[in-house]
Amino acid sequence: MSFREWGNTSVIGLHWGDDGKGKVVDLLAADFDVVVRYGGGANAGHTVVIGSEKYALHLLPCGILRGEVLNVIAGGVVLDPAVLLGEIASLRQRGIRIDDNLRISDRAHLVFPYHRREDVLSEGAARSGEKIGTTARGIGPCYADKYARHWAIRVCDLYSPRRFRERLAAVVAHKNAYLSAVYGSHETFDADKLADEYLLFADDLRPFVCDTMLLLHRALADGRQVLFEGAQGCLLDVDHGTYPYATSSNSGGGGVASATGVPLSAIDSIIAVLKAYTTRVGAGPFPTELKDARGDALRERGHEYGTTTGRPRRCGWFDAVAAAYAALFSGPTSLAVLHLDTLSGMSELNVCVAYRAGGALLESFPADVSVLDEVEPVYETMPGWTEDIGGCRRTADLPPAARDYLKLVSERVGAPVRIVGVGPARDQIVLAEEA
Ligand code: IMP
Repeated sequence: MSFREWGNTSVIGLHWGDDGKGKVVDLLAADFDVVVRYGGGANAGHTVVIGSEKYALHLLPCGILRGEVLNVIAGGVVLDPAVLLGEIASLRQRGIRIDDNLRISDRAHLVFPYHRREDVLSEGAARSGEKIGTTARGIGPCYADKYARHWAIRVCDLYSPRRFRERLAAVVAHKNAYLSAVYGSHETFDADKLADEYLLFADDLRPFVCDTMLLLHRALADGRQVLFEGAQGCLLDVDHGTYPYATSSNSGGGGVASATGVPLSAIDSIIAVLKAYTTRVGAGPFPTELKDARGDALRERGHEYGTTTGRPRRCGWFDAVAAAYAALFSGPTSLAVLHLDTLSGMSELNVCVAYRAGGALLESFPADVSVLDEVEPVYETMPGWTEDIGGCRRTADLPPAARDYLKLVSERVGAPVRIVGVGPARDQIVLAEEA
């Protein structure tokens, strides 16, 4: 099967991220002409395993591992040039070609060291129980500056060096005063040094920088097929996620249009990626979390440690209520369920099909995270399977219990399962008409 049939396709995560979007984008990219990373920043970590090589990408689109694909970092991304250039250098060292196959939006906002500092200081100052558990990559403070407008600096600003220096001097004076007054920080940033550093970055970035919205519209007009690579997961969406335990961008299905300038009407398919169980990093409610040995077992078997921060991920049963809620505002046309192999050998599997609070079933996903924190998950229990499924390549190869499990996931989330992950390798995939 060629994924070209799906038309222009958006790949999103349906839970709280770390779902395996990297693997799905890598798989689909072979059939697409352009891959676009459009939201978040270096908080993301997409892992792709090719043979014995493992690649952890933070800002580069996963299509970069497919030499013939054009990769675009769109304007909705908050770009840390030090991280991006480091990533480019390390991939080049490993023999990956990065030249005219990468384009970066001139509208992307730049992350500066003072953003990272503010991220750490604001988390440090938050009262216990109110810490978000951010990745400390400066994402929230950079988006806050973007929306406040006074202190933001974009990629295009780098190419008017005099104005850039003046603006950065004003911004840095403000940031130093702010961080000192609010957090008592003694660290001050030197505007001149920072400007020198960023203008060097500007030279290195220059060959890649362009108006990516125009580029994408031209590509679409030429009939080239585009794959949009979401970052994070829908439940971290700043509007519809488990706010304030969310990220600072629209990581739900709707975010793609504003972040790229490609209208929603140009997107033909949305594939939502999920794990066969649920994980979350950072703080915030997680109704199906397993805080016992079963959660530890999932973490070890699934190697559930953050790609970006190395933090152990919280693990729990598949939460179909949260996934169905995310599906409601994100509209997936199909699902990719990864890590099914991690569940092999568990005698019983639970899928959360409702939340109960105060003795009654909840009708909607609560806005108030303190309510979500208290809900009691209602489970449908299913038998597990013991077979090693790593070699399965067709739905019919999967044990009946695994097929029943996928059927329940599909019914509850409300979209057909088209891709199933049965191991980390590039080819450990079951392509299902309807699993
Ligand atoms: P921030 O995006 O660094 O501000 O972090 C906000 C919340 O989103 C924290 O709970 C992070 O752990 C979470 N988060 C951000 N990016 C990712 C990701 O790529 N995968 C999973 N969680 C993420």
